[in-house]
Amino acid sequence: MPRAYSITDHAYDCLVVGAGGSGLRAAVGMVEAGLRVACISKVYPTRSHTVAAQGGINAALANIVEDDWRFHMYDTVKGSDWLGDQDSIEYMTKNAPAAVYELEHYGVPFSRTPDGRIYQRAFGGQSIHYGKQQAYRTCAAADRTGHVLLHTLFQQALKHKVEFFNEYFALDLIMDEEGGCAGVIAMRIEDGSIHRFAAHLTCLATGGYGRLYFSCTSAHTCTGDGNAMVLRAGLPLQDMEFVQFHPSGIYGAGCLITEGARGEGGYLTNGLGERFMERYAPTAKDLASRDVVSRAMTIEINEGRGCGPNKDYIELHLEHLDPKVLKERLPGISETARIFAGVDVTRQPIPVVPTCHYNMGGIPTNWRAEVVRPKDGDPDATVPGLMAVGEAACASVHGANRLGGNSLTDLVVFGRSAAHRAAELVRPGSPARPLPKGAGEAALDRLDRIRHASGSLTVGAIRTNMQRTMQRHAAVFRDAPTLEAGCRKLEEIAASLRDLKVTDRSLVWNTDLIEALELDNLVMQAVATMHSAAFRTESRGAHAREDYPERDDVNWLKHTLCWVDERHRPRLDTRPVHLFTLSNEVEPVPPTKRIY
Ligand code: FUM
Repeated sequence: MPRAYSITDHAYDCLVVGAGGSGLRAAVGMVEAGLRVACISKVYPTRSHTVAAQGGINAALANIVEDDWRFHMYDTVKGSDWLGDQDSIEYMTKNAPAAVYELEHYGVPFSRTPDGRIYQRAFGGQSIHYGKQQAYRTCAAADRTGHVLLHTLFQQALKHKVEFFNEYFALDLIMDEEGGCAGVIAMRIEDGSIHRFAAHLTCLATGGYGRLYFSCTSAHTCTGDGNAMVLRAGLPLQDMEFVQFHPSGIYGAGCLITEGARGEGGYLTNGLGERFMERYAPTAKDLASRDVVSRAMTIEINEGRGCGPNKDYIELHLEHLDPKVLKERLPGISETARIFAGVDVTRQPIPVVPTCHYNMGGIPTNWRAEVVRPKDGDPDATVPGLMAVGEAACASVHGANRLGGNSLTDLVVFGRSAAHRAAELVRPGSPARPLPKGAGEAALDRLDRIRHASGSLTVGAIRTNMQRTMQRHAAVFRDAPTLEAGCRKLEEIAASLRDLKVTDRSLVWNTDLIEALELDNLVMQAVATMHSAAFRTESRGAHAREDYPERDDVNWLKHTLCWVDERHRPRLDTRPVHLFTLSNEVEPVPPTKRIY
């Protein structure tokens, strides 16, 4: 097929793909190290999904009550249901205070305590003294923390002269003969021109893949493009079965109502008016870990104790809170509830349901943000030239369940760590890395195939089928028959891609084509998620198997790895969890029963 693309080659020391919190933090740090950095993003940077983070960023600053990074580490390991890598968790929790002060100095306008310190609120799964008492660890800018963080980091990136390629869609990694990453091939959405970026280091910061699900808090752009690029490069994804359902997505709309609402004193009731969390988590109650609260809500609804005419939602109460608190600390969600649920939070409860919110799994990395794939008997071998940060990555600090407020911490701590590692690995101004012969050819073949797809099914039709399948077969509770049926349905959905119809053939602002490329990416991740969930025959964190209700440390205290080939066939394996720490400042947290 004749190609209509003009191809431009670029060469940089480092390439960051994605301009959310982690990508921008990595890019800023790389420039600070004297490196020439390009950042490519499929959306204008301030539209990245970090903008939607509400409640805050965790760091043991001890501004409200005493705190210690070791308490933060303990809570995170427990929250992860012991699937988190403890060396990475130690690194994140120890470096979190410095990362937050750095954000403050960059200009993030945090809310303040009366004596002028950064305001911190209570969030789920947090404690001091190893489970003894509620912590106040989540640093907040009202309920718009992600918004201010993203805008501040973007300003820093502009100041540091990161070179932006905005509205460029990354098509694929360019891999060399040795299995290292040499750069990325991308398409400029505005005119369809093709750009090959050669770089000594490529850092994927492409976010999560929440749009796999029918109801999610994620932006339409959250299609896990970097994850799919990694799969097409023949590398595995890790722990894809662990999908977080946030307890408070607005019923019917999916928009997020921050956990900070419960942190400020909000509570949940069922259709009988009961504060049912007292039964499921007697100590932490509404501030138990997210997986615990979402499961409890689902049980209440499934057992006929939901609210409303169809008994299919739970109510979140804020009407008892001081209106001053709502105005100062929760202005964003007060507005969201009014617009999307028609609720005045000063008078009425908000109808909420557990809603897909975050992907704990993703591209396996170590604490230095280097991508890992087992090789020659080494489960921790790294892929030369390739890094991943943020929700795209699986460091793994969240393990089987992420604690609220740890996502923004992960973004900035590992963005910064990637920059530190880049400074060690790349000499500023070293000669450009040559691209291998035929670089990007396979990506252009795929682009041509999708652009000229002339079947009978629209992107929307296949996507809805996939999203409904994920929602029905891989939600809060799972079992073998449901998951196996889900795997079979996904086979049909993957096959239906051969009957895809892309209506617009043009190269100028062709959003139909971009959505088709995103769908192609999503289907690969759907396969990885469903098969990984069927593979893991235990319950751990967000992965709740009704047929295997207990955690099984003997057989399953390990990460899942999943490869998906071009015919959507999965291959599964495992890799050890790091149950060791980086330093002797803290002991590893031994696995115990997880009770809140
Ligand atoms: O509830 C929230 O504000 C979400 C925070 C998070 O996912 O970390």
